[in-house]
Amino acid sequence: MSNRRPERRLAPSLLSADFGDLGSAIRAAEAGGAGAFHLDVMDGHFVPNISFGPALVEGVRRRTRLPLDVHLMISEPARYAPVFRKAGGDTLVFHLEATEDPRGTIEAIRATGAGVGAAVRPETPYARLEPLAGELDQVLIMSVHPGFSGQRFLPEALPKLATARRQLDEMGSAADLSIDGGITTETAPDASAAGATFFVCGNSTFVGGDVGANLRRLRESVEVGAARAVH
Ligand code: DX5
Ligand code: ZN
Repeated sequence: MSNRRPERRLAPSLLSADFGDLGSAIRAAEAGGAGAFHLDVMDGHFVPNISFGPALVEGVRRRTRLPLDVHLMISEPARYAPVFRKAGGDTLVFHLEATEDPRGTIEAIRATGAGVGAAVRPETPYARLEPLAGELDQVLIMSVHPGFSGQRFLPEALPKLATARRQLDEMGSAADLSIDGGITTETAPDASAAGATFFVCGNSTFVGGDVGANLRRLRESVEVGAARAVH
């Protein structure tokens, strides 16, 4: 195992929280051991749903010191990178499918001072991301079709995670390997065993039960998978 591989972290997605009481959701997730917050930005164009923009990111920024991981499910990610950085995003993750110029987008995000992540939808092969991986702080594998929380995990993501894990380890990369969509106590062990380090969890954190208890169970299931990892 590469000794530069980051620790495994849980990143609750605030899309599944009560927007009428985000402050409480943030506090509960922090107390429950969240390692970051994941913010799903949707523009109704790249994906068939609209969520929120930089104003909400800025509001969350004022409530927490945890890293803010901004998942840009939008067209023209390079154009909007500066406003999401200014709003407080620590890492800005763009979709490869949203741009014809991924290197230019990486540069545009890097120029803002944010960490750079790139994401692939379930139907996009990892091979498209592979040539860029060395320039990234985060590789994000989608395990649902982007647009909505609460969907079922697509197991096709697992071999992609394993391929990405191998590549990042071979390069000695310290990038996070993120899995996003349908992460629950059932699916987290497999994703963890395949080498994910950053677990986005929306409904499994905020819908039903107690946030602290939900995160504790998710953490346990991530550790179960980590113990099973082959490398
Ligand atoms: C889907 C988003 C995900 C989603 C996660 O488009 O990118 O981050 O909100 O929610 P769950 O964990 O409920 O699938
Ligand atoms: Zn997301």
